[in-house]
Amino acid sequence: MELTLKLTPTNPAPVVLVTGGARRLGAQMARTFHQAGFRVLVHYRSSKTDADSLAKELNQQRPDSVQALSSELNTAETINDFAQQATKAFGRIDVLINNASAFFPTPFGDIDEEQLDLLLHTNLRLPILLTQALAPELSQRQGVVINLADIHALRPLANHPAYAATKAGLISATKSMALDLAPNIRANAIAPGAILLPESQGADYEQQLTARIPLGKLGEPKDLAEAALFLATAKYVTGQVLAVDGGRTVWQ
Ligand SMILES: NC(=O)c1ccc[n+]([C@@H]2O[C@H](COP(=O)([O-])OP(=O)(O)OC[C@H]3O[C@@H](n4cnc5c(N)ncnc54)[C@H](OP(=O)(O)O)[C@@H]3O)[C@@H](O)[C@H]2O)c1
Repeated sequence: MELTLKLTPTNPAPVVLVTGGARRLGAQMARTFHQAGFRVLVHYRSSKTDADSLAKELNQQRPDSVQALSSELNTAETINDFAQQATKAFGRIDVLINNASAFFPTPFGDIDEEQLDLLLHTNLRLPILLTQALAPELSQRQGVVINLADIHALRPLANHPAYAATKAGLISATKSMALDLAPNIRANAIAPGAILLPESQGADYEQQLTARIPLGKLGEPKDLAEAALFLATAKYVTGQVLAVDGGRTVWQ
């Protein structure tokens, strides 16, 4: 997909902030938006080496176009401080991609409060609080919020009740954002299917999944990133959830 922005001295490159952007799908979104002409803020929590090397690689292609910013984002205070730091980095933020996420099983009978808190915080409190903190800046830019949900928000994934519920909450929050932050901010969610499996999952699991995907294969990170770029530029689309799942959700 070619969506290269037309930039002039009076129309500087817009800025996208990707949380958890150092690795995996976040890093691909950083690359795809950068290629389309965006400047990129790569947030990382623990993946400093990956974030620095991604920033170096992209800055070699276009000097001063990417910054890597670290934050734990574990309290409202660190989230608000990070929002200020991120806004100052390039002096603007046009697109916020709430990508950082925690994913692990919580089978009934074995769910503890700490696990619940971690999933709820990372997948729901963080995107809501960060969107709130950046809303004044995004509003000035006719900005966009893109929340990374999951097809398992609306159809359960065995042994992941807490994860699935947090992603369902994120879809609900996305619709509220679209209503309450309009008309200056658009908010949409992406519900990925199987794109990059957790690093611990083996080939057998991949085969089982593929058998129930009409397009017959896992998605590529680029497929997901191009959907995000579409939502960033689709000016009359807000409050929607776009499944990027090879048709998995139409399989019986
Ligand atoms: N992969 C898929 O196929 C798939 C399927 C469905 C939905 N999704 C959704 O798509 C998004 C990207 O998926 P992914 O697999 O690339 O994600 P991921 O690797 O599981 O996580 C992305 C990043 O989130 C950050 N993170 C995790 N816990 C955090 C916390 N408590 N506070 C702050 N940052 C935290 C980590 O950053 P650091 O490494 O810097 O610590 C991590 O690298 C996620 O929202 C995910 O739920 C993905």
